[in-house]
Amino acid sequence: MRGKASALILGFLVVLLIVQECRSKKHRPNFVFILADDLGWNDVSWHNPDVISPNLQELHDNGISLHQHYVQPICTPTRSALLTGFYPYKLGRQGDGIEPLQPTGLNLDKKLLPERLKPLGYSTHMVGKWHLGFCNWAYTPLRRGFDTFYGKYLGSGKYFQHTRMSGYDFRDQEEIDRSARGKYSTTLFGNRSVEIIRKAAAARTRNPFFLVTSFQTVHKPMEVPQKYVDLYPESLPLAIRKRYAMVTAMDEAVGDMVDALKDEGLFDETIIMFTSDDGGKEFNEGTNFPLSGGQGSIWEGGTRTAAFVHSPALGNYNHTEIFHVTDWYKTILSAAHKGIKAGEFVEEKEEEEEVEEEEELAGDGMDQWDALALRKSSPRRWMIYNLNVLEDGTVEGGLRRGQFKYMIGSEARRGDETGPWLFNIDHDPTEQHNLVDLLPEMTKYMHTELEMRAKSSVPMDEPKTSLGGLPDNFGGDWAPGWCAAPE
Ligand SMILES: *[C@@H]1O[C@H](CO)[C@@H](O)[C@H](O)[C@H]1NC(C)=O
Ligand SMILES: *[C@@H]1O[C@H](CO)[C@@H](O)[C@H](O)[C@H]1NC(C)=O
Repeated sequence: MRGKASALILGFLVVLLIVQECRSKKHRPNFVFILADDLGWNDVSWHNPDVISPNLQELHDNGISLHQHYVQPICTPTRSALLTGFYPYKLGRQGDGIEPLQPTGLNLDKKLLPERLKPLGYSTHMVGKWHLGFCNWAYTPLRRGFDTFYGKYLGSGKYFQHTRMSGYDFRDQEEIDRSARGKYSTTLFGNRSVEIIRKAAAARTRNPFFLVTSFQTVHKPMEVPQKYVDLYPESLPLAIRKRYAMVTAMDEAVGDMVDALKDEGLFDETIIMFTSDDGGKEFNEGTNFPLSGGQGSIWEGGTRTAAFVHSPALGNYNHTEIFHVTDWYKTILSAAHKGIKAGEFVEEKEEEEEVEEEEELAGDGMDQWDALALRKSSPRRWMIYNLNVLEDGTVEGGLRRGQFKYMIGSEARRGDETGPWLFNIDHDPTEQHNLVDLLPEMTKYMHTELEMRAKSSVPMDEPKTSLGGLPDNFGGDWAPGWCAAPE
């Protein structure tokens, strides 16, 4: 009798201790960052009713629509900005994407977002396309803060065969994964993301997780299972049916991820973010409609993406202020620090953490967490679209200040003209009315500002290609081990 009673009391105490432990521990949200590739403004159903993307649509409609979400005009630069919180022109990444045989990678002196989340107890996962360098193991995801990696090191490749030129490029952790061959990458990436979510839920510790799911969709080559193409009317040109079909396949994968989060009871404590890495290719007619320009340009069509952030605790509304891709770094960290309580986001901070963050967190991003979660006004009033200094000292690029946008140079080309251009984006989002002659003072001010910012730029990092990286040297696979990593 006495034994039973003391066991009962002991049991009660244990329960009490566990409850105490849960109370004192901050409940950190999970993050699922979904990245599409070359997806145009007009390639999602909330901008274009021809596109079938019900799962993304539902997240968008129930989440925060990011009406002015900006990225870089090209893939590698956007991914660099996302994971470092720095403008690419300060990293040497303001140029083109990293080519397969270019012996370089994302700056090793920068601490990437997953490296900052791990000390907070997060498990960190990268699924899909990396495209931030792989010539040395030091550049690859598992050496940059990710616990797991599943996908491709290169910037593009075939969707079923996973080859680029003749080389095979598909890995699970650091091993080549041949079982992926013949399977559609979008589905593989969705399935692995589901697996990660289920494992995180099953883990005894229930640590929060940070998952980046980086689809190839809709980067060329235009490959997609026929069943998705068949969903679209034959009256549409085949190229367009294929592109939309690729979006629908991605949408299905996103739907599977959402179902897994709901099944596992994680949906309420997860923040889902969605954007493309740049605008659609201009030659794909209508892909960025009604915006001007496309991928590779700093016109709105190249840099302004269909984007949202979703969590049941955030509610739904239209965030119309400027949000730049560098902002995710501090915004995500801020959300991780502040945490969730009973389905609501809390404002309190841990004092020590705050001090540490202020010391450490350099970069160009701004913490927009309070703007998103508490609907306070955004701290961001201006941004750089891109910036580069030519050999002769000429400054090229684009700058936004409030409603005004100024741009000049090769990425601002329209036909034969390279600017300068000055637009009022609030009144003229499709960039039809050049205000340069009308507002000479403003034009001059913006150019001076761009030149001032250029003082903190570093030269483009565009090393000559090295044949050492050819797959022939690695048994037919794309593999690390053919460049030195800088100290
Ligand atoms: C993805 O997961 C689904 C559901 O478990 C499964 O039916 C399908 O075969 C998987 N696809 C691939 C390509 O692994
Ligand atoms: C958000 O607000 C802007 C500006 O008022 C509007 O043009 C846009 O259609 C709105 N977006 C949504 C999804 O409601």
